[in-house]
Amino acid sequence: MADAENLSFAIVTCSDTRSLAQDAAGAFLEEAIAERGWECCDHAVVKDERDQIARAIVRAADELACDVVLTCGGTGLSPRDVTPEATRDACEREVPGIAEGMRVHSLKYTPRAMLSRALCMQRGGTLVVNLPGSTKAAAENWEAVACVLPHAVSMMAAGGHE
Ligand code: MTE
Repeated sequence: MADAENLSFAIVTCSDTRSLAQDAAGAFLEEAIAERGWECCDHAVVKDERDQIARAIVRAADELACDVVLTCGGTGLSPRDVTPEATRDACEREVPGIAEGMRVHSLKYTPRAMLSRALCMQRGGTLVVNLPGSTKAAAENWEAVACVLPHAVSMMAAGGHE
């Protein structure tokens, strides 16, 4: 069971063009996770293909048993942006408030925050959070969501309220 102070993460960057070495937003997220004393178990880059993204989420949740999967990219309106659809394929239950909160926070920076279709969903005991793909956008969304993750994870592990 998760210790909410010691969260484990997987990063799944969704991009047709990026390699792991070029994934600046993913590298930023790795550092941001470490800064809070949390652990990043895995960082993968997959193409903007619905089945590949869904498989990466399932692997992180079921095989790696991560508390949180951060996807990065593919939340916009272009035909190749399929991360929210893949997230729905892999997950059971939506947590709309987290995605709403990220968009509210992001609107302070840019009205284009409305163009992210990001979702937050649960697969078993794993929380999946879609973040946009640019380093700036990923950082601004992380800023909004990081503080609620320990409580979210402890509730998923049936810890309830203190
Ligand atoms: N959110 C924040 N905080 N800052 C940003 O710069 N960019 C937006 C939006 N969310 C942005 C943001 C833009 S321009 C797009 S197209 C969408 O995220 C989707 O980005 P993605 O396709 O890389 O996931």
